Amino acid sequence: MPAAFDVPYDSAAMADSVPTPGVSEFERSVKAGLSARIKTLDSKYFYDSAGSALFDRICELAEYYPTRTETTILRRCAPAIALAAGRGAELVELGSGSSVKTRILLSALDRPAAYVPVDISSDHMLGALHSLRAHFPGLDIRPVSADFTEPFVLPVRRGEGVRLLFFPGSTIGNLHPADAESFLRRLRRDFSPQAMVIGVDLKKDEGLLHAAYDDALGVTAAFNLNILERIGRELDAEVRPACFRHEARYVRALGRIEMHLVCTEDHMARVGDMPIRFHRGESIHTENSYKYTLTEFTTLAERAGWHSSAAWTDEDGLFSIHLLAAG
Ligand code: AVI
Repeated sequence: MPAAFDVPYDSAAMADSVPTPGVSEFERSVKAGLSARIKTLDSKYFYDSAGSALFDRICELAEYYPTRTETTILRRCAPAIALAAGRGAELVELGSGSSVKTRILLSALDRPAAYVPVDISSDHMLGALHSLRAHFPGLDIRPVSADFTEPFVLPVRRGEGVRLLFFPGSTIGNLHPADAESFLRRLRRDFSPQAMVIGVDLKKDEGLLHAAYDDALGVTAAFNLNILERIGRELDAEVRPACFRHEARYVRALGRIEMHLVCTEDHMARVGDMPIRFHRGESIHTENSYKYTLTEFTTLAERAGWHSSAAWTDEDGLFSIHLLAAG
């Protein structure tokens, strides 16, 4: 049976961890997650260069409907968003990655004052910005390398237009709903935006979800396993990715798809000076991807102090884009 636990698992795993000087945040998080009763790893650590490249491949998979569906919706609704934003908007994108959808929005906006991409994987972001610069030669691009799930600072606001946050890809779904709500509240408080465009994946047939998170080519499996490979590459650690297999589980009661790394044989691993025992059949819970109905998400955003201005979906109701106003 799936290990379903409806708590913000990141915070639960981190609750008892005491900062140790000289130990990286990554190592602290890994040790806390792997010493918990139900082992976890924080999905934000998927995105080193190898993980970001694998994620780009996921986005091109036939089974992974979110990217192409969101892109189609965005093409349709970009003119309405641009009209609402007005001339000279500053576009701030959270988790910009390869900035593909950004082009659609930037092309629609009326003389944007600046584009501020924020991403945890700075190499990946800077690589993507080369081609964006060539595409929009006059655009003021001001990249910020930051983990947007933690407090960070934006460059001084440009121009007189609105500050428009852009949070595509349903990355909001990787947060527990309680964390998603406080995150949306924090964005309003810290950055004083006027509006936000946010992509949100919708509840749907479980078969489609399964295929999207466990594709036939095994790219999602490689993406999931890369987190263990990264631990081996970056930390003083001995881990055995070959002793794990990828598993995607939809937990209907919680409205989320979970990714797990299931241990295939009893073995010992080590991170720093901490030994870790793994039993065959136990899993490391690496990611949650929450799915919402339109109403569920609108209600969550309104609880965080945003007002729903508009929402668009594709004709199969797979994905949604919401335009929220800060009020
Ligand atoms: C980034 N995030 C929205 C993706 C998702 O669908 O939850 C990450 C992902 N995990 C597996 N495939 C894609």
